[in-house]
Amino acid sequence: MAPNTYKTIVLAKRPKDNVIPGETFKLISDNAAPSADSLKDGEVLFQPNYLSIDPAMRGWLNDTRSYIPPVHIDEVMRGQAVGVVLGSKDSKFPKGSYAQGTVGWTELKVCKGKELEKIELPRGARLTDALSVLGMTGLTAYFGITDVGKVKAGDFVVVSGAAGATGSVVGQIAKLKGATVLGIAGSDEKCSWLKEELGFDGTLNYKDKEFGKKFRAATKNLIDVYFDNVGGEILDMALSRAKPHARFVMCGGTLDGLCILTITLTSSQASASITRLSRRGRRTT
Ligand SMILES: NC(=O)c1ccc[n+]([C@@H]2O[C@H](COP(=O)([O-])OP(=O)(O)OC[C@H]3O[C@@H](n4cnc5c(N)ncnc54)[C@H](OP(=O)(O)O)[C@@H]3O)[C@@H](O)[C@H]2O)c1
Repeated sequence: MAPNTYKTIVLAKRPKDNVIPGETFKLISDNAAPSADSLKDGEVLFQPNYLSIDPAMRGWLNDTRSYIPPVHIDEVMRGQAVGVVLGSKDSKFPKGSYAQGTVGWTELKVCKGKELEKIELPRGARLTDALSVLGMTGLTAYFGITDVGKVKAGDFVVVSGAAGATGSVVGQIAKLKGATVLGIAGSDEKCSWLKEELGFDGTLNYKDKEFGKKFRAATKNLIDVYFDNVGGEILDMALSRAKPHARFVMCGGTLDGLCILTITLTSSQASASITRLSRRGRRTT
């Protein structure tokens, strides 16, 4: 029997800094469940199975000017999900088919068909791949490193946030294009995974006390492409190691002031102009 109620998670209070468990979000357990029989033409009853939790979400909690409006207090938290169609009055989404959309943190939603996208997975792929390598972060990685970064065989590519959803795919695509790839991550375990399972040529743990020294040694021949997921000090260090006409892909930075992580360009701004590097932005979220 279909449940009478379903759960949602709403924004209860804007955090000043980190999200505070039990304070920032509130669970609403007793929403009245819609029935498939009450759907109007063009509507779909959608059940999210997996949610994507992304860094951009932290920015959506701030009531400031951004590329999309903030999530409002008492509004269901915004987020992408993949799931199954439980009922449908849109022929594009038959009952039982899989779809994805920015439906938020909810167990059920009556959507307009146009809010959803059909999921057609290649053989061997899992449903969750539609939220990662075949979804937003995979597309960001692909277009970031190929279209913006113009990666080519022989390039030396450095990726920050390399063990994250975007960085891990960036490094693998760069390898497929014939580049040599150095990944920067925050633990030895993540570094081993990048090298042993994903085929990165080298890795550095930015929490290592000797990171600065090791970074300078690893980049002594200078960087062709830097894929930035982080900003801050590591970006600064990379700028000081940029080859003339290096391509810096500002994915998790603040090229246009829209992303959540801060870039602090200090002394290295000078070297950026000296080396005539190019920076281009692209937003996938
Ligand atoms: N432009 C676009 O359209 C677009 C699309 C997707 C993502 N993004 C941005 O790209 C970035 C990465 O997204 P994602 O989905 O790949 O995120 P993710 O899977 O959460 O990975 C982020 C990585 O950043 C690293 N990190 C966190 N704090 C750090 C710090 N202080 N110093 C160095 N590294 C740090 C973490 O690695 P460790 O645990 O190893 O520290 C983590 O693996 C985010 O800023 C996101 O907003 C932009």
